[in-house]
Amino acid sequence: MNVLILGSGGREHTLAWKISQSPEVQKLYIAPGNAGTGLKWTNVAIGVNDFEKIKRFALQHDIRMIIAGPEEPLVNGIYDYFSSDSAVSHIAVIGPSKAGAQLEGSKDFAKTFMQRHNIPTAAYRSFGRDEADAAGLFLRTKKPPYVLKADGLAAGKGVVICNTIEEAEKELKDLLLNGRFGKASEKVVIEEFLQGTEISVFVITDGKNWKLLPEAKDYKRIGEGDTGPNTGGMGSVSPVPFAGEDFMKKVADRIITPTINGLKAENITYRGFVFFGLMNVNGDPYVIEYNVRLGDPETESVLPRIKSDLIPVLKSLEEGTLSSQVIETDSRTAATVVLVSAGYPGDYPKGLEITGLEKPEESIVFHAGTATRDNDGSIVTSGGRVLAVTSLAGTMAEALEKSYRSAEKIEYLGKTYRKDIGFDILK
Ligand code: AMP
Ligand code: GLY
Repeated sequence: MNVLILGSGGREHTLAWKISQSPEVQKLYIAPGNAGTGLKWTNVAIGVNDFEKIKRFALQHDIRMIIAGPEEPLVNGIYDYFSSDSAVSHIAVIGPSKAGAQLEGSKDFAKTFMQRHNIPTAAYRSFGRDEADAAGLFLRTKKPPYVLKADGLAAGKGVVICNTIEEAEKELKDLLLNGRFGKASEKVVIEEFLQGTEISVFVITDGKNWKLLPEAKDYKRIGEGDTGPNTGGMGSVSPVPFAGEDFMKKVADRIITPTINGLKAENITYRGFVFFGLMNVNGDPYVIEYNVRLGDPETESVLPRIKSDLIPVLKSLEEGTLSSQVIETDSRTAATVVLVSAGYPGDYPKGLEITGLEKPEESIVFHAGTATRDNDGSIVTSGGRVLAVTSLAGTMAEALEKSYRSAEKIEYLGKTYRKDIGFDILK
């Protein structure tokens, strides 16, 4: 079977690495991919939202499965685009329908969905542009910190947490009235601040049944000790020690099952991954957000812990036979350290040569923001998050040591990484 993966980050390199191990996969393409995916498989210069071109390419290359890495093509309806066209409806698109992708594409949809199905989440209200005054008054009835969320996709920047009412009012105005994210902030969700520890829980579903994948913890802040601005993610670990049997049973009973049953009850087609961004509040899980794809850099520590071939599992989604699949996991710990460009998440240089990529022997090096230089074929930086280094070991401390040893062997100007991934769990 020929497979096409959409995306170009560390998550997509990890998906390619995992999928390519399946004896069922013949040719593997990544659109647009990065230097790492281009070294082993075939990169295709097509954007993830160019459905016309993706369709043409898929027909020309006998693609049987398309795995959407990022949320954007899903929110834009790639699932429906393929399933409603008889020329390409034989191609399995891994991901939800456009309606299902609203779980991530609209915070307001996600919140009302959770309300309809009694799924624990922070109390909230949403406000449209013509309700700015009411939103301001509502804020005044709340205590800090204030959590404001743009309704739509905002490249991971749509959530603001403010410690003073003045700041919150300014942000509200900026989002709702000044349209900081255009259409995406025409509506704003204001919600209660949840105090606790975050965890990323992943399942795969055919819309009726679901299977749990390994959980992970993501380190979002740029600075050590979880300080400074948010990034796409500076590292991840899996498993997460506090996600014991008790906690995960609550997650399954209160969150996952009602979510999948809710999708089914609302006739929403969903054949893909669900990423539950959860807050553990004194042992009780609350949904912070849904994502309709795998996380990045969580994927880099989640997929290396899956022992089973993923292709039969992914194929079973279309057939509705997920319940007969077994997903075997590795009991070892995976630890991922992300190497970023100096200046990230602000402005950063690009095109800096990367050396030593072949040196790490005890880790897997996944590429994220890398490119191949045209004139000499050398590998250079091309994004904020450059590489993700993952290691597996019997303990988290050992897995981290391996990843840090490997991170030291790779060189590029301004190489930056957090030295304290897992710090909160190890202490
Ligand atoms: P997101 O961009 O949706 O991933 O949200 C960014 C971050 O904001 C989350 O990872 C949380 O750390 C934080 N956050 C979002 N909603 C809440 C909330 N209700 N209470 C506390 N923290 C939150
Ligand atoms: N690591 C968080 C995300 O992928 O959204």
